[in-house]
Amino acid sequence: MTLTRWAYFILIVALILSALLFVRMHVAAAQGATPAVKGDAEAGRHMAQAWCTECHSVQWETAGTGKFAPDFTVAAGRRSARWLHAFLRRPHVKMPDFEFEPDAADNLVAYIVSLKRR
Ligand code: HEC
Repeated sequence: MTLTRWAYFILIVALILSALLFVRMHVAAAQGATPAVKGDAEAGRHMAQAWCTECHSVQWETAGTGKFAPDFTVAAGRRSARWLHAFLRRPHVKMPDFEFEPDAADNLVAYIVSLKRR
């Protein structure tokens, strides 16, 4: 092969590699866009109904009937799972300080996030 041919060959290999890299990054970005929420939403629903209904409406069926605390359906629409985790971890003035096991927090967050309208 002449030098020019080698140059072409290398150029084409480089193009193919960068195309593959681009596709990979694209796939990774798409996966990152829908963060997997760990936790069991069904268990979270039971917990929410047992512990949170004193102040919150915790499901669509009762939306708008919550007391002074924001509806979980509203929270689902405006908060990310990350935000909800952080919120449940820190003590809150107007909310009793629940000390959740990590699993319980995961379940509650999974449940609240599941209320989001699709
Ligand atoms: C004694 C009443 C009370 C109980 C019980 C209670 N909360 Fe709250 N909660 C509040 C109040 C009041 C706020 C609003 C506080 C604020 O944002 O200033 C709030 C806010 C929140 C928010 C933030 C919503 C948002 O979008 O701003 C989340 C999430 C939340 N509560 C989760 C829970 C969970 C989960 C439970 C049950 C494990 C629970 N709460 C039980 C009173 C309560």
